[in-house]
Amino acid sequence: MQAVLDYLKQHQARFVAELCDYLRFASVSAQPQHKKDLLACGQWLVKHCRQIGLDARLCETAGHPIVIAKTRKAKAASGKRQAAKKPHYMVYGHYDVQPPEPLELWTTPPFEPRIAGRNLFARGSTDNKGQNFAHLKAVEAYLKTGTPLPCDLTFVLEGEEEVGSKNLSGFLKKHRRELACDAIVVSDTGMPAANCPALTYALRGIIAFEITLHGPARDLHSGIFGGAVENPAMAMAHLLAKVRDENGRIKIPGFYDGVASLSKYEREQIKRYPLSDAGLKKLLGAPQLFGEKGFTTTEQRSSRPTFEINGLTSGYQGEGSKTIVPSWARAKITCRLVPNQKPEHVRKIVCAWLKKNCPPTVRLEIEAGHGAEAYLVSPNGKPAQAALRALEKAFGTKPVLIREGGSIPIVNEFKQVLGADTLLLGLGLPDDNAHSPNEKFNLDCFENGQRMSAFLWQELT
Ligand code: BES
Ligand code: ZN
Repeated sequence: MQAVLDYLKQHQARFVAELCDYLRFASVSAQPQHKKDLLACGQWLVKHCRQIGLDARLCETAGHPIVIAKTRKAKAASGKRQAAKKPHYMVYGHYDVQPPEPLELWTTPPFEPRIAGRNLFARGSTDNKGQNFAHLKAVEAYLKTGTPLPCDLTFVLEGEEEVGSKNLSGFLKKHRRELACDAIVVSDTGMPAANCPALTYALRGIIAFEITLHGPARDLHSGIFGGAVENPAMAMAHLLAKVRDENGRIKIPGFYDGVASLSKYEREQIKRYPLSDAGLKKLLGAPQLFGEKGFTTTEQRSSRPTFEINGLTSGYQGEGSKTIVPSWARAKITCRLVPNQKPEHVRKIVCAWLKKNCPPTVRLEIEAGHGAEAYLVSPNGKPAQAALRALEKAFGTKPVLIREGGSIPIVNEFKQVLGADTLLLGLGLPDDNAHSPNEKFNLDCFENGQRMSAFLWQELT
């Protein structure tokens, strides 16, 4: 093990340079013009995995390709009994990134990595390239120092996580025998601070949809016709404003059906979370915090469901003014879901509510998007306990147990299709700017993440 740790220590500068190469690919899965960048990024990963000694291949899908990389199985000498079967773990991550816009808010361009102190700035640095690269570097250390791995490993790195993992689910089913494993390890979540490692035992689920309100057949002169015809932007504002009351509670009947309250143990864990409301307010640069009354900030953003407008568009958006009644208004919406909420049920009641409350002066169109259930796994199981030990060894301090508000849709299918639990061992910090301009990854988290991965395979087996 010391050889592995020494190797990691000696090669940090090269690892960072390689991570910069990985970050130069503009692998934006939501934008069709980047299709070839995703392919090139996947090909680069396959080549890199082969260089570090893994068997790797690129698997085409109807969307962006999936990278599969495995440790080589030791060949049983002929005539001898087959070597005892080792446990098999999967490391899952994604090489696609969120759109970098608005570009003018980046200090330096999103796909030109920049290092400042212990931070590496680039789109995808924390979410998720830096985090999955930490696991690859840990395996490299085992393979290059000839240190035997106590388990078989398969890396699954996909290119569609940020758009709902549409094609990975079919791939899992098709390759369920090859991918069958004892547990899945994912570093695509967060930790409260660089000196406060965490095991995440719950994630929120999600449903996405887009609603359009259609009014007049074309944009109209607002002086000639305004006042006698519905303004779709006004209708949208009215409709969406009715979704929530002044206490932050969603008013759609049935929205909270089945939502469980937190146990005493969970509330106690939450109290250990080292980010105060004042600290959060400062970090977010918001005039005030706002959330559902009766719940702490940490509860609000990890264990309560939400209804969010992600984008709102209507009328003239260019410079100066244009006096029109717009022909349509559109909102991109996602709801975050918590354990016990069924995505299809929530989608149904939300759609029914929108239809019921939409005025007859506009025509409502709803386009359904991706959806996934929340995830919850016991932090008391043997793998979770092993992960906690690995975190403590790597970071030199006791980890906290947290629930987080983000979603990783595929983890539910890992359970359903492969029957395996996922260990969520995040390396992202609250100020990493995931999905925001000036995204960064902390290089201490990168290095300790590699050590955590190296310890993990020992602790798990
Ligand atoms: N890494 C995030 C998920 C995450 C972030 C979980 C922080 C917990 C804490 C992931 O890349 C992500 O952004 N997922 C999307 C999923 C969606 C597009 C289906 C999300 O949560 O918005
Ligand atoms: Zn993300």
